[in-house]
Amino acid sequence: MPATTEMVAVVAMAKNRVIGDGSGLIWHLPADLKRVRSLTMGCPLIMGRKTWDSIGRPLPGRASIVMTRDESWAAEGAVRAADLDTAIARAHDWIAATPDARNEIILFGGGQIYMTGLARTNRIEATVIDLAPDGGPQAALFPELRSADWTRNILEDVAADGDVPAYRYERLTRKTAVQV
Ligand SMILES: NC(=O)c1ccc[n+]([C@@H]2O[C@H](COP(=O)([O-])OP(=O)(O)OC[C@H]3O[C@@H](n4cnc5c(N)ncnc54)[C@H](OP(=O)(O)O)[C@@H]3O)[C@@H](O)[C@H]2O)c1
Repeated sequence: MPATTEMVAVVAMAKNRVIGDGSGLIWHLPADLKRVRSLTMGCPLIMGRKTWDSIGRPLPGRASIVMTRDESWAAEGAVRAADLDTAIARAHDWIAATPDARNEIILFGGGQIYMTGLARTNRIEATVIDLAPDGGPQAALFPELRSADWTRNILEDVAADGDVPAYRYERLTRKTAVQV
């Protein structure tokens, strides 16, 4: 296990940065869901309350740390956090207490949580989908990045196949590491 914990954002976004319509995803990419599972297994996930609502259950083998300003919020299988520092502290606690945990904290979205956590994120595992959906009035977006701050590697290009649009896997690594 690496000595220092790093925060990794995992996201699927359209080429116009839309990530969802505010209550769910706009596309269905089964291969990407499998990839997300393997990228996140054994890690604590920091997510917004709306993303929790869209999933509706804790994801097995991972901690679900849910950011909400509602002090009375509670859900079975979720850990509430009132702000990012608390969420990160809970994530460290979970890693320390979980024998098979990996030393990575996953910034799991949605748009508000990526915006809040990106400054403390060292790596982004992005699936960039060859679509530009409108996303509707509640559209959630992945924040714009300052390209000078990140090294971008394209890991794989996947061609369109029937109803499944083309997409690619990208890894963005922060040039100057930040602590989490
Ligand atoms: N494509 C992807 O990879 C991906 C990943 C994740 C989510 N999504 C999509 O993104 C959409 C949801 O994103 P969203 O931006 O609308 O919502 P979100 O970020 O999931 O959740 C927003 C909520 O988080 C809480 N929150 C936000 N900032 C906070 C802070 N600084 N401190 C404490 N609590 C805070 C608030 O909860 P309260 O209102 O309870 O206070 C807020 O309403 C959905 O469509 C979902 O499917 C896509």
